[in-house]
Amino acid sequence: MKPWIELGTAQIPNDGGVLTLRQRDQEFSISLSGPRGELMNSRRFNSEQQLSVLGCAHLKSHKGARVVVGGMGMGYTLAAALDVLSPDASVIVADLIPEVVEWNRGPLGECAGRPLDDNRVGVHIGDVAELLVNRSGEYDAVLLDVDNGPEGLTHSDNNWLYSVEGTSSIYRSLRPGGVLAVWSASPDTFYVGRLKKAGFRVEVKTVRERPGKGARHAIFVARKKSG
Ligand SMILES: C[S@@+](CC[C@H](N)C(=O)[O-])C[C@H]1O[C@@H](n2cnc3c(N)ncnc32)[C@H](O)[C@@H]1O
Repeated sequence: MKPWIELGTAQIPNDGGVLTLRQRDQEFSISLSGPRGELMNSRRFNSEQQLSVLGCAHLKSHKGARVVVGGMGMGYTLAAALDVLSPDASVIVADLIPEVVEWNRGPLGECAGRPLDDNRVGVHIGDVAELLVNRSGEYDAVLLDVDNGPEGLTHSDNNWLYSVEGTSSIYRSLRPGGVLAVWSASPDTFYVGRLKKAGFRVEVKTVRERPGKGARHAIFVARKKSG
C-alpha cells in the first residue's frame, strides 16, 4: 500500500490544535493533532450526506430556497444539499479554517464532485454562528456538522450553537417550516430538550457511516412550525 502524503496543515483558531490533510492514492484524510486523531476520511461519508438528505427533504421542489451549511469539511454535506435543491436555490457554506476551503478548491475537491464550483454556492470564511445570530426568517434549512455533536469535543467555542440561546437564535433565523439538521456522533436527550424548548418539533434519525454498515451516528432533524 502506498504511504500517506501530507498535503497541508492549518492552525485552528484559539489554540484549537492543527489540522493535517493527507492523501494515499484516491483516499483523503483530515486529522486533528492530539488524541482526537482522524476527523474525516473520504471513504466514510454516508452520514454527512444523510445530514442534507434529511435536512433538505422539504425543499425538493421549493423555489428560491436559502440554505446554510456549516462547515465545509470534505464537501459531502454541501454536495448532497446541492443534489436536492432546485437551480434557483442558494447555499452559503461556512468554515472557520480558510485552508479547508482552499483544500476543497484543490485536489480534495474531487471527493465530493467539486461543489464549490456550483454557482449556487457562496462561501463564508468564519464562524457559522455569525450567519445565525440576529437573523429573522432568512433560511429554509440550516445544516450543521461542525463538531462531534452537541457535546462539542473538537472545538469548544461551538457550544453556543447548541445552547438554549443559540438554539433559539437559529429558530428565529429560519423561515416558517424551516429545518435545522445537526450531525452528531451520538444521541443527546438534553439537546433534544433544548431544541423542543426553542419551539422545534424534533426527530432523531440514526444513520450509518457507510450505506448499511459502519458506525452509527445521529442526525437531529428539528422543524420550525409552519406559521
Ligand atoms: C466534520 S467537518 C464537516 C464535514 C462535512 N459535513 C463533510 O461533508 O465533509 C467539520 C468542519 O467544520 C468546521 N468548523 C468547526 N467549527 C466551525 C464553526 N463554528 N463555524 C464554521 N465552521 C466550523 C471545521 O473547520 C471543519 O471543516
